[in-house]
Amino acid sequence: MPDYQLNHAVTDLEGNQLLAAGTRLSGPVMETLTCSQPTAVATRRLLDYRQVRPDLLGFFAAAPYDVIFHDPARQRALLAIAGDVVMPEAVLESLYYFRRVDFYTYRHTLLVFALSILIARELINDADALMQEIIAGPTHDIGKLCVPLEILTKVSPLTETEFDHLRHHVLAGYVLLSYYFRDSTILAARVARDHHERRDGSGYPLGRPIDHLMTDIIMVSDVYDALISPRPYRPVSYDNRSALEEITRQAGAGIISETVARVLVALNRRSRPHYSRCVLSTERRGTPPENNGYGVIEK
Ligand SMILES: [Fe+2]
Ligand SMILES: [Fe+2]
Repeated sequence: MPDYQLNHAVTDLEGNQLLAAGTRLSGPVMETLTCSQPTAVATRRLLDYRQVRPDLLGFFAAAPYDVIFHDPARQRALLAIAGDVVMPEAVLESLYYFRRVDFYTYRHTLLVFALSILIARELINDADALMQEIIAGPTHDIGKLCVPLEILTKVSPLTETEFDHLRHHVLAGYVLLSYYFRDSTILAARVARDHHERRDGSGYPLGRPIDHLMTDIIMVSDVYDALISPRPYRPVSYDNRSALEEITRQAGAGIISETVARVLVALNRRSRPHYSRCVLSTERRGTPPENNGYGVIEK
């Protein structure tokens, strides 16, 4: 395994430290961590957990997501797949914690999950394989549990030190999910670790080009939702056209997957073309918000 090292401690929802800052995530360290959980882990369905289902339906109805999710047949298929996702209760509690303290992150994790299912079902034909892959969606940002709330909800651009702490969420997520699922090799843990890597090696934590379909799908869903949603530090979000143009630009530059970007663009067309026939235009007609803060951090 490449050399991952924690810049900050990883703690669970109750504040118990799982690993200290400076820990190298070696095989033996991860082995000890995953064996430290009790053997019986209680699991529940994500959509049946407290207000998750009604919340998700409310998010679907709000523009610009209504374009993607308004189709009843598409929504039924999506909910049937999402309805089968079960998770350890501690993971559900951790996700639900954000509903109270950082609603943006809560909404974001559910919408990335839903969007990643719609994209994945276009690209993965086998139903069992699809179920195994899509579980990685809702938990990709669970490591934000280990980022101070004042950083997550800061209304001005982050400093370099704060950004370093924010970047911690990828390895924190990997550790937390390895711990809760008692397995450091599960997809959800790897996607949490890798979803900010980029195909051209410009991402983090290692700057390593990732070539894995579900990671690509979460990556594109994650960037798209970040563009079109208000963020604490950027109250004006991208309009849908500008967001899709930015996604197309990043795909053209080899930063994110072009196939996944094409599926996302197809999902946004009301005529519902098959993604393979969807042309990615490089023409820029949208108007991105001025002084947009997406990915731009004040040094
Ligand atoms: Fe993230
Ligand atoms: Fe995210």
